Amino acid sequence: MPEIGLSRSVSTITISPLRTEDIEAVAKLHAAELQYSFNSRIGPKHLACVYRAMLSQPDSFVGVAMDAGVPVGIVSGSMDARTLKPLILRSLGLRGKLRMIGGLLFKPSAFFTLLEEIKSRPPVKAGNQEVNACLTTIAVASSHRRMGLAARLVTSLEDFFRARGVSHYWLDTIAENSGARTFYQKQGFVEVATHGKTVVFLKQLRLD
Ligand SMILES: CC(C)(COP(=O)(O)OP(=O)(O)OC[C@H]1O[C@@H](n2cnc3c(N)ncnc32)[C@H](O)[C@@H]1OP(=O)(O)O)[C@@H](O)C(=O)NCCC(=O)NCCS
Repeated sequence: MPEIGLSRSVSTITISPLRTEDIEAVAKLHAAELQYSFNSRIGPKHLACVYRAMLSQPDSFVGVAMDAGVPVGIVSGSMDARTLKPLILRSLGLRGKLRMIGGLLFKPSAFFTLLEEIKSRPPVKAGNQEVNACLTTIAVASSHRRMGLAARLVTSLEDFFRARGVSHYWLDTIAENSGARTFYQKQGFVEVATHGKTVVFLKQLRLD
């Protein structure tokens, strides 16, 4: 990550939907701040394809925190987590698929992370209802943490969900990410399941 010599005044940091021209910078931010995810392990070029695909999906949202024109935080989510991965895979094109296969062959950590991420799990439920909406990514540049940016990013995703009538959404994180777990609890999420090294959180949205 290049040094971010920025103002650090929270009031000047804006949160807005991802723009095409910021995709590469956002992919680099994601790769730098969320190193353990499968997509990060494949690399920023792959991540840029993922964000490009999400941008073209009306059921997906990517929010970006911008400080003086530089992305310093990201959140992404989808109305239906089950359909998102196949949609992204289809949109990759031959080059993107070859990049992914190369990553899987030459980066064993990526291979094992993928195995963990695609393991079959019971659906997340609120009462008897299956919950499909999902937060897929959140990360803030280490230079900009504990300024309330992630909380603002979550609000932007929730505005997107509320406008579409979503009453609950879920996310998961690795159990050892204690900072993220505390953050999610502060945002009103409740831990509802543990699968191996992964913890699942659920949040109910007020729709009034
Ligand atoms: C988790 C993460 C997104 C939080 O971003 P952030 O912008 O620093 O969070 P906020 O400033 O909005 O935090 C709001 C509150 O959540 C809690 N919180 C946030 N990060 C915390 C941490 N590392 N440890 C304990 N509590 C934390 C605090 O109560 C905080 O309020 P406070 O600063 O007034 O005490 C950020 O640490 C990050 O990008 N981590 C690396 C990527 C990652 O792990 N993402 C989650 C993957 S599932």
